[in-house]
Amino acid sequence: MPFDPSDEIRYDRTRLRQWARGHARSAGVDRRDLLRLFAAGTAAGSLGLGAAGTASAATDATTADDGAASPGIVKPLPPELFTIRGTNAETNFAALRGTGPLTPVDRFFVRNHTSTPRIEAGGWQLKVWGDGLAGGPVEFSYDRLRALPAVERTLFIECAGNGRSFYATQQGQPVSGTAWTLGGIGVGHWRGARLSDVLRLAGVTRGAVDILPRGLDDEVVTNGVNLGRVRRPMPVSKALDDVLLAYEMNGRPLPPDHGGPVRLVVPEWTGISSVKWVGDIEVSGRALYSPWNTDTYQLFGPGYPAEGAPFTRQTLKSAFELELGATVPVHRTRLLTGRSWSGAAPVLRVEVSTDGGVRWQRARLHDAPRRGSWVRWSLPWTPRATGATALLARATDATGRTQPATAAHNTQGYLFDAVVRHPVTVV
Ligand code: MTE
Repeated sequence: MPFDPSDEIRYDRTRLRQWARGHARSAGVDRRDLLRLFAAGTAAGSLGLGAAGTASAATDATTADDGAASPGIVKPLPPELFTIRGTNAETNFAALRGTGPLTPVDRFFVRNHTSTPRIEAGGWQLKVWGDGLAGGPVEFSYDRLRALPAVERTLFIECAGNGRSFYATQQGQPVSGTAWTLGGIGVGHWRGARLSDVLRLAGVTRGAVDILPRGLDDEVVTNGVNLGRVRRPMPVSKALDDVLLAYEMNGRPLPPDHGGPVRLVVPEWTGISSVKWVGDIEVSGRALYSPWNTDTYQLFGPGYPAEGAPFTRQTLKSAFELELGATVPVHRTRLLTGRSWSGAAPVLRVEVSTDGGVRWQRARLHDAPRRGSWVRWSLPWTPRATGATALLARATDATGRTQPATAAHNTQGYLFDAVVRHPVTVV
């Protein structure tokens, strides 16, 4: 069943109001603690969890006392493939050049609120519980999940804060949170069970309203407040639509850093919905609340209502497979390559400017436009003059939307969608 985006907005807005009025349960977080954090909001008007919730400054591994990078990620993070940002690892977009439509696991970005837990598939259980079920809790072992009909999909997972650093560097607007450039995204080929099958087997009722998947990684403590385990509610309508409980990524068992043995993959929605290391799912007949859909992953700022504006879907972006600040030789033709994607609809057109945005040329697309994934594109370029310049790429998706020149500012720097000015020096 198609999901109406206006319903998503209504859904999140309703949840936030209900919570503010004390109708929604705080699902494990002391409401007084949260109100304290509300009160201690940043000068810019955010609820104060923004900086800490995304936490990179406080836990920046690159500035740790021992000088060693220790972001709590299991796989190797060679500097040519990744930039470490606190507990997270950003994919260097240049490292995708020459790779196929899927992001290889060895260069797929990692976004961890704490650190990667090691969980054996044999000991893993998913508990589905709550008053939105007809009976009591139902448990699914790894083998039981794998015995269900399998589905496979190629989908991106992207952090809502991807591109955040450009609010500051390109628009001069301060934002809190991890300073991603454009590498907080990866496209995987996921295989798993349908969440809808699991919910139906567990006895989901017509009265169910929300589900709340929760990770098995460590509890998140920020500013001395324990927010509990990572969890974000989702309307039952989305959960029954197209969400996967994935146990394979790119044809192999799901690796530890990406949620192994089992994670949610929520097509087109912001990465926080795709809960890794999922251990339990509450199914509720009432509205549910978590810090991850009210305090963080909400839009705050002068252009938004005081209680914040909700979002669920990713936006439109383009990136060159080239280092920021690359040096390129004059009079030598090179093939500029990159990728564009949108959470709203397939990307249909990409235009590139090699003169700082004066003239635009249509890039050649190398993939059929597809929902929930990206298109690779290319354009030959022969620089004719030496000096500093900027390369720009702008995408248009099937809704008719084109990347704007400026992104609408929000204090936590989510959903940056403007055309990025990619600096290069011609020598
Ligand atoms: N799930 C758990 N349990 N813990 C987390 O820290 N991070 C979320 C999401 N799921 C997170 C999580 C965020 S913000 C993103 S962007 C994606 O996982 C990142 O997925 P990846 O690390 O596989 O790229």
